[in-house]
Amino acid sequence: MADVTFEKTMDLDSEAPIETNIAATLNALPHPLIRVNDAGNVLYANMAAEHFFRISANVLAKRRLVEIVPFGSSLLALVEQVRERMAPINEYGVDLGTPVNGSNRVVDLQVSPIFEVPGDILIMLQEHSAAKKMDQQLTYQGAARSVTGLGSMLAHEVRNPLSGIRGAAQLLEDVVEGEDQALAHLIKEEVDRICTLVDRMETFGDLYPVQREPLNIHTILNHVKKLATSGFARHICFSDEFDPSLPLILGNRDQLIQVFLNLVKNAAESIGKDTSDGEIILKTAFRPGIRLSVPGSGEKVTLPLEFSVIDNGAGIDSDLMPHLFDPFVSTKAMGSGLGLALVAKIVRDHDAVIECDSEKNHTRFRVLMARHSET
Ligand SMILES: Nc1ncnc2c1ncn2[C@@H]1O[C@H](COP(=O)(O)OP(=O)(O)OP(=O)(O)O)[C@@H](O)[C@H]1O
Ligand SMILES: [Mg+2]
Repeated sequence: MADVTFEKTMDLDSEAPIETNIAATLNALPHPLIRVNDAGNVLYANMAAEHFFRISANVLAKRRLVEIVPFGSSLLALVEQVRERMAPINEYGVDLGTPVNGSNRVVDLQVSPIFEVPGDILIMLQEHSAAKKMDQQLTYQGAARSVTGLGSMLAHEVRNPLSGIRGAAQLLEDVVEGEDQALAHLIKEEVDRICTLVDRMETFGDLYPVQREPLNIHTILNHVKKLATSGFARHICFSDEFDPSLPLILGNRDQLIQVFLNLVKNAAESIGKDTSDGEIILKTAFRPGIRLSVPGSGEKVTLPLEFSVIDNGAGIDSDLMPHLFDPFVSTKAMGSGLGLALVAKIVRDHDAVIECDSEKNHTRFRVLMARHSET
């Protein structure tokens, strides 16, 4: 700022005093700019800074930096570092939102020492543009909508031709022989696989209102156990730790079966086919102290019923954890990555939440729900 050549150039073009010109220039800057002294007092704030902090420049100039940024903000530490090192530092994606200037004010910070006045620091903020934020939100919404739309579209449009192809393959299989018969069989099998996928996608499209009824969770878990042990989890030892005094829940039977079947199937797949000491525990418990914010609504609700599926399989990689419930996320060669996305959707539709914690040989998915009387 105190660049001599810069000041001279300004002076040549204007009759106004140099200070006025500099102030006008800094005010024309679209990025908030603040200068603080070594005691942390704000010495100068340009117009963009007034707008950003929603505090007038006069008032800002009476404040300390610590009073205008969020409590414990990394900006404060950054200023100290710059002062110590006497070298500029940038930091990206810092939220400077406060009750005064609003939430989610994410900025990139450029903090530089003012060499001419030791201890003084210049802070420039570059707000993530509204366009960028909106773009991000639209992308998320778009992604969610496209999964929903795709589900409905697939269900309606793809099923008919598929059944035609399957029928034709069946006819072929009956009349051809040898290798051709195997190929016709392959077509049939693959069509069946697509049909299963279509069925699962359909659940994402909210085509039908969900009917809910009072249910005993143990009936559902026992049913899932029966399906699993007579099929894909034949080789796995199941144990249940049920609390028989658990109250009823309000839910859709088929959908809840889908939830626990998906969780048990994942558990069985992580244990693998070749393991002889694989174990899946189905557990229910009443935990009156659990209050959680349901995603999507800011409210806290009491969700005292806890239903867990625990396995002693390979565990989930920590890199995968943040994306676990996203559609099309899979580590399996033949996996569609829709299982947990579907689980998350059904759980959300039931005003419940699902959580997962995992370490090697111990992975637990917990569904937390309200009891029937509170639903
Ligand atoms: N109990 C578990 N143990 C270890 N990893 C798991 C477990 N549950 C889920 N995962 C991981 O999460 C990924 C996503 O699971 P999800 O059920 O959504 O898809 P998928 O099982 O791969 O495919 P699909 O369910 O469509 O057959 C899995 O590929 C797996 O890596
Ligand atoms: Mg799965």
